[in-house]
Amino acid sequence: MADKLIIFDTTLRDGEQSPGASMTRDEKLRIARQLDRLKVDVIEAGFPASSNGDFEAVQAIANAIKDSTVCGLSRANDRDISRAAEALKGAARSRIHTFIATSPLHMEKKLRMTPDQVFEQAKLAVRFARNLVADVEFSPEDGYRSDVDFLCRVLETVITEGATTINVPDTVGYAIPELYGNFIKTLRERVPNSDKAVWSVHCHNDLGMAVANSLAGVKIGGARQVECTINGLGERAGNCSLEEIVMAVKTRKDYFGLELGVDSRHILATSRMVSQTTGFVIQPNKAVVGANAFAHASGIHQDGVLKARDTYEIMRAEDVGWSNNKIVLGKLSGRNAFKQRLQELGVAMESEADINTAFARFKELADRKSDIFDEDILALVSDESIARDNEQYTFISLAQRSETGERPQATIVFTAQGKEVKSESDGNGPVDASLKAIETHVKSGAEMVLYSVNAISGSTESQGEVTIRLQNNGRVVNGVGSDPDIIVASAKAYLNALNKLRSKADRVAAQG
Ligand code: KIV
Ligand code: ZN
Repeated sequence: MADKLIIFDTTLRDGEQSPGASMTRDEKLRIARQLDRLKVDVIEAGFPASSNGDFEAVQAIANAIKDSTVCGLSRANDRDISRAAEALKGAARSRIHTFIATSPLHMEKKLRMTPDQVFEQAKLAVRFARNLVADVEFSPEDGYRSDVDFLCRVLETVITEGATTINVPDTVGYAIPELYGNFIKTLRERVPNSDKAVWSVHCHNDLGMAVANSLAGVKIGGARQVECTINGLGERAGNCSLEEIVMAVKTRKDYFGLELGVDSRHILATSRMVSQTTGFVIQPNKAVVGANAFAHASGIHQDGVLKARDTYEIMRAEDVGWSNNKIVLGKLSGRNAFKQRLQELGVAMESEADINTAFARFKELADRKSDIFDEDILALVSDESIARDNEQYTFISLAQRSETGERPQATIVFTAQGKEVKSESDGNGPVDASLKAIETHVKSGAEMVLYSVNAISGSTESQGEVTIRLQNNGRVVNGVGSDPDIIVASAKAYLNALNKLRSKADRVAAQG
């Protein structure tokens, strides 16, 4: 049997814990479908006990996904575990992932429990979960900073109780590759029944080493599952990045010698979808999925690549979903060509009516912009789904006037709870005036903590993609909007963020 590395995607659970990244049920479902298309082995869909919204999201994903295993997180108590089992009932393949902290610091200061109490709770939790599902993962939270003797005792017991996967988190991103790899190796050597479980790595990126640590856990430690997120999304500096792990193991098969189930050609579409849904922009020099990942600026490199691609490229751009010919469609392209390109990009539309709406928007865009790139199509489709999900405020039109020496003025028309509203304001600049015009009517009182503009494709002719992060009453949300006019994109992003502020349910943080 081939030696396989299991890819466990936690974008929808650990990734969602990033400030402002929390997603609606429909957004999570759309991403889960895309992860299934990417053929990840396990989708950690959420933390069902944290909120009714997350319960429903996990339930919807469990009912919809047929190939990947759907996993729900739970703390090590009967209530959380029952809630996870309930949400996962409809899944073709389900897993409960239960965790409790085992480091001295977490046990004493956070849980206020003795090691013996934690030991007992871990044992009972796994026993309880195994009575509900056959596939149970156990994580000793802050495992890497735990006492090895204690950890071995806990892990041996939970394996005896039936845990099928043992995940060793570096919860705070403190590990160093060689040390983490050896840590996993030691645990596997010292836990007498270690061969009865799959060993898994879960690394945070606080020191920028999440991918390196995970790979060391695989190579040195013998782990056969990596927990990771699309674009490395996650709290603080994020989690281990799925695209980097997959492409490292695939590109260096000579070294790792491992098989993967993932279809890497869907990586880019998934990355764009996650970025546009969460408002977390991908830096241009990000490995694998950044805009520059396959761009060569220096003459020597360009010349080399033209003569023989492998002089400077170790991966084929098309293997991760970048198309060779990036200008794909224009004004004269028909519905069939549009539909086919959506399929090639791995975007599944739920109905013909959805395709028609997206196609109408594509035509509108093509009237204003001569070349439509893959990125434009992905942004447009994502905008379309945003509009469908959040109906409270919808952009209609914007007029603004700015002139050197004059204070800019903006008039915006949008719908608020189904009614058309017209609102005006001045501001320091045209964007400021437009957003103030919205705020004059909405009066959200939210504080803007981030405003960022990105060109979706390379030139001034391209669409601007704006991310706005708002904070209100302890909630943080990211809104995104795209349009060839960056002031319109800003207004759309602001309305999108307001919609999210109104619709998001509170959540319990998994590590809180
Ligand atoms: O980082 C961590 O410890 C976690 C656990 C809940 C697995 O995400
Ligand atoms: Zn984590």
